[in-house]
Amino acid sequence: MKRIGMLTSGGDCQALNATMRGVVKGLSNNLDELEVYGFYEGYKGLIYGKYRLLTSADFSGILTKGGTILGTSRQPFKLMHDPDENGLNKVEAMKHTYYKLNLDCLVILGGNGTQKTANLLREEGLNIIHLPKTIDNDIYGTDVTFGFQSAINIASEAIDCIHTTAASHNRVFIIEVMGHKVGWLTLYAGIAAGADIILLPEIPYDIDKVTKAIEKRAKAGKGFTILAVAEGAISKKDAKLSKKEYKKKLENSPYPSVSYEVAAQIQKKIGVDTRVTVPGHTQRGGAPCPYDRVLCSRLGAAAAQAIIDEDYGNMIAMKANKTVRVPLEKVAGKLKVVEKDSQIIKEAKFMGISFGD
Ligand code: F6P
Repeated sequence: MKRIGMLTSGGDCQALNATMRGVVKGLSNNLDELEVYGFYEGYKGLIYGKYRLLTSADFSGILTKGGTILGTSRQPFKLMHDPDENGLNKVEAMKHTYYKLNLDCLVILGGNGTQKTANLLREEGLNIIHLPKTIDNDIYGTDVTFGFQSAINIASEAIDCIHTTAASHNRVFIIEVMGHKVGWLTLYAGIAAGADIILLPEIPYDIDKVTKAIEKRAKAGKGFTILAVAEGAISKKDAKLSKKEYKKKLENSPYPSVSYEVAAQIQKKIGVDTRVTVPGHTQRGGAPCPYDRVLCSRLGAAAAQAIIDEDYGNMIAMKANKTVRVPLEKVAGKLKVVEKDSQIIKEAKFMGISFGD
């Protein structure tokens, strides 16, 4: 008999349901008795005791369903030790719910911030299994996160669509891609959809290099240029600012995001009509792609095995196409970034893609 709790926390993605299904299928197929409690809206449900006993019907037909059947919310790790507006100690409240339900383990699906709280609960003595979710692919200790590939598909499709209209009108187009502080999604979608210029947070750009790359294409007879710009892209000049100074600059900026600033600078420097498209949260929406469905099923099955083995305190990760258990204490709080000298960047540059550096 195992009694487990489950929650999805932070920004959603396409593959949360598929992963929960994988865990529950793996457990129910190998245990005589199982109880699964689903907490609503991430850690909120655990803090305030909002949960429901789930049945096999809850996990039926959800392999292809995006979003999360449990709902989610952002509960910043840095505020976890602060009491809520009614003076409630959130960490103690979460422990209380866990012990009240007599759980054997809590399965937590989420990104970096979620993982930090998962590790905190582990330190507090709870049995935790973490599963790496995010379209950003920035979780340290796993080659890939679920949601990433589905988001690449959507962002690539957005760039593909822009390609045809950009070519018809001989325009410069910027497509702003999500990814928070890292450029994985922009890099992969950019290469997949044939972007000419890719701007990433990890490789600060020089706007003159960007405009030169556009002019070089124009001289070669290419009437249009496609830029894939990460939402966290930053100029060389801004990269020199302190965190505080940069925050202030953004607060006072007339542009809604970096892409609009780049567009205005291109327009001003070389007088080329430049448009911006922001696919935004579409990148987290819709059904998980087949790659993610397989990834989630494998991670879910491996999580179930770890629970049966009572090997807790781990993230279930994918390394060299093998599922592995990575101790949370070794990875929590670390970020996986795009290395600017990595093979993929060198290969992209070799093909003529400009990173504006
Ligand atoms: O972490 C996933 C992500 O979609 C990031 O790429 C993006 O910066 C952020 O979440 C957006 O957050 P929200 O949904 O809270 O606007």
